[in-house]
Amino acid sequence: MKQYTVAVVGATGLVGRKMTQVLEEHHFPVGELRPLASARSAGSEISFRGAKVMVRELTASSFSGVEIALFSAGAAVSREFAPCAVRAGTLVIDNSSAFRMDKDIPLVVPEVNPRAVHGYHGIVANPNCSTIQMVVALKPLHDMWRIRRIVVSTYQSVTGAGKKGLNQLEDEVAKRTVAEKKFPHQIAFNILPQVDVFAADGYTKEEHKMVDETKKILEDDTIQVSATCVRVPVWGGHSEAINVEFAKPCSVEEAREALRAAVGVIVMDNPAGSEYPMPIHAWDRDEVFVGRIRKDDTVPHGLNLWVVSDNLRKGAATNAVQIAEEWIKNGRASR
Ligand SMILES: NC(=O)c1ccc[n+]([C@@H]2O[C@H](COP(=O)([O-])OP(=O)(O)OC[C@H]3O[C@@H](n4cnc5c(N)ncnc54)[C@H](OP(=O)(O)O)[C@@H]3O)[C@@H](O)[C@H]2O)c1
Repeated sequence: MKQYTVAVVGATGLVGRKMTQVLEEHHFPVGELRPLASARSAGSEISFRGAKVMVRELTASSFSGVEIALFSAGAAVSREFAPCAVRAGTLVIDNSSAFRMDKDIPLVVPEVNPRAVHGYHGIVANPNCSTIQMVVALKPLHDMWRIRRIVVSTYQSVTGAGKKGLNQLEDEVAKRTVAEKKFPHQIAFNILPQVDVFAADGYTKEEHKMVDETKKILEDDTIQVSATCVRVPVWGGHSEAINVEFAKPCSVEEAREALRAAVGVIVMDNPAGSEYPMPIHAWDRDEVFVGRIRKDDTVPHGLNLWVVSDNLRKGAATNAVQIAEEWIKNGRASR
């Protein structure tokens, strides 16, 4: 089997570390792993398949011989260095928001629109973590009844804001001086109705991402999406309360059945036993968990769902690795 030279850009971050872990767990055919980060962590080591691999500083010439690069070091780094990787012939899978809405760049969730990556060269965008878990849960229902409108409220963990977000929660819980504030307010024992920065219309950028990316991935501009994104003091795993309205009559039983049959979805829905998904179920798992499936009788064809997933895995690292797997399986590069 062919082995690939794989670079992880941002290898020392929460997502980058998870990417290395997922590559190993999925037995991805890595011949050489090239972990890249800023000058701050050049020379440090990460573990991969029981060995230590040295982290190198990211430069424009880091991609010579690299076939696949997983980028996870923020949008500014992606904008500067992803084109260098593409010029070196590398397939870039980018976790940042830099290219997601570029019309020539595929935005891919393998359970939803895998074909977008077949035979493709260049940059592929990995969607926002909150969007990924929502579209994985909604795609089987969209296929049956066509979605008209989504109203979603998120409960997003601090790991969604990277190392600094996690450190702020841990410092505040331990009543230590916060080394570096990531959030505009205390996050411990609190919730913040703000994820990312505000746009001029009063919505946050995270909320805009959920609206725009959902339409692009589901390839349907007519879907109406209204989002409120909230940061909660949870270590890992994003939760979402999703209200969805369809064009056709829907039922709870058919929704459960379709979701049980869907790849990458686990249904946990037993109200009598207080069984429903929680972030602790999703922790370090690749699947999207769905529960609390109920009819919404205030609209003609409506359902309510509760959807939970590990933002560092399916929301970021796992989805990126699955894109690479899909690309290898179905017409990678014949250049
Ligand atoms: N966390 C999530 O749930 C999640 C989900 C989806 C997408 N994302 C996206 O993934 C990216 C990384 O998120 P994260 O949570 O892993 O953040 P993080 O924990 O703060 O890690 C950031 C990583 O980027 C590296 N980096 C920063 N500036 C760099 C530079 N100038 N050159 C090279 N490397 C640089 C850091 O290296 P040093 O250690 O050397 O500083 C570190 O490895 C962001 O774009 C984020 O929006 C995150």
